[in-house]
Amino acid sequence: MQQRTLGADFLTSAIGLGCMGMSEFYGPREDSESLRVLSRAVELGINFLDTADMYGPHHNEELIGRFLADQKPDLKIATKFGIVRNPGEYSRSLNNSAAYAREACEASLRRLGVEQIDLYYAHRINPDQPIEETIEGMSRLVKDGKVARIGLCEVSAETLRRAHAVHPITAVQTEYSLWTRDVERDVLPTCRELGIGFVPYAPLGRGFLTGRFQSAQDFGAEDMRSNLPRFESEAIRTNGRIAEVIAEMADRKGCTSAQLCLAWLLSKGPDIVPIPGTKQLRYLEENAAAVAIKLTSGEQQELEASTARLSVIGERYTAEGMKGVNA
Ligand SMILES: NC(=O)c1ccc[n+]([C@@H]2O[C@H](COP(=O)([O-])OP(=O)(O)OC[C@H]3O[C@@H](n4cnc5c(N)ncnc54)[C@H](OP(=O)(O)O)[C@@H]3O)[C@@H](O)[C@H]2O)c1
Repeated sequence: MQQRTLGADFLTSAIGLGCMGMSEFYGPREDSESLRVLSRAVELGINFLDTADMYGPHHNEELIGRFLADQKPDLKIATKFGIVRNPGEYSRSLNNSAAYAREACEASLRRLGVEQIDLYYAHRINPDQPIEETIEGMSRLVKDGKVARIGLCEVSAETLRRAHAVHPITAVQTEYSLWTRDVERDVLPTCRELGIGFVPYAPLGRGFLTGRFQSAQDFGAEDMRSNLPRFESEAIRTNGRIAEVIAEMADRKGCTSAQLCLAWLLSKGPDIVPIPGTKQLRYLEENAAAVAIKLTSGEQQELEASTARLSVIGERYTAEGMKGVNA
């Protein structure tokens, strides 16, 4: 697997593996299959795993901890703190205080069974807490050796500048895909100006851009996508057009829609490391193969133009979920 560098020195595989769906949000979990996916990812050269303390909570970090303990693979682990949830509940609050960062970090280290977190993100920006205090707290975790590097999720360009002035930010992780390109306006240019890497989450539009989901009924009872505005019945009908356009072009290119989505993100710059999520071996293998697919600039332009002219209906999250986004 090709390698890419995030920020000054964080070398990772060109795509990582998003582990969130192995625990919740996208239907039932199946730990034994997820552990097989993790093993296969290592065989394929994917060495960058993405998790968070709130996935599960805290099942996702514990699952990765089990995998690390059994197999002792050489992996880079990114995890996150700041969204506080009670097990079994979807309600949540944000806490980015320095004291909470330390408490959450120590709990993540225990669950993962590692001495240091390779990349530690603040998961959301809490507008009620000055970013400088959060980053100072996180930078003390770096000084203490508990964290190697700092990242921020869903941050605005302005907050990113303030944060980076306190301690170098290695990566920003925000939703970015062919149906969510807001970051191209300010955040991605700011990352480039400051030498910060970019990690697109939901690079497959939570699976929608692969053409797999045609209607709201395709999501089971435990699937949070059915609560998201973009996946409501009416929106799905309109938004399906973008998946069709991607499928048409993928057909011509001789690859799958998922691979075209990932190849497009990889073509947007060497500072971009997408983290497609899956709990299925066949998808993992398909997604890993996307690193070999190159888009010509003509193909890139055609794909961008034909998807950009279609309107996408619905916000990315509910009003509650939008709190701390682009803050
Ligand atoms: N920072 C944040 O706020 C934030 C928010 C969301 C996610 N994330 C991170 O980003 C990672 C990726 O995002 P995501 O998982 O939400 O969305 P995604 O990667 O865009 O899509 C995941 C969905 O697509 C399906 N899928 C994966 N590969 C496929 C393929 N080749 N063909 C058809 N379907 C495919 C998966 O199916 P299966 O489930 O059946 O495998 C899953 O339902 C997460 O795992 C998480 O680590 C971060």
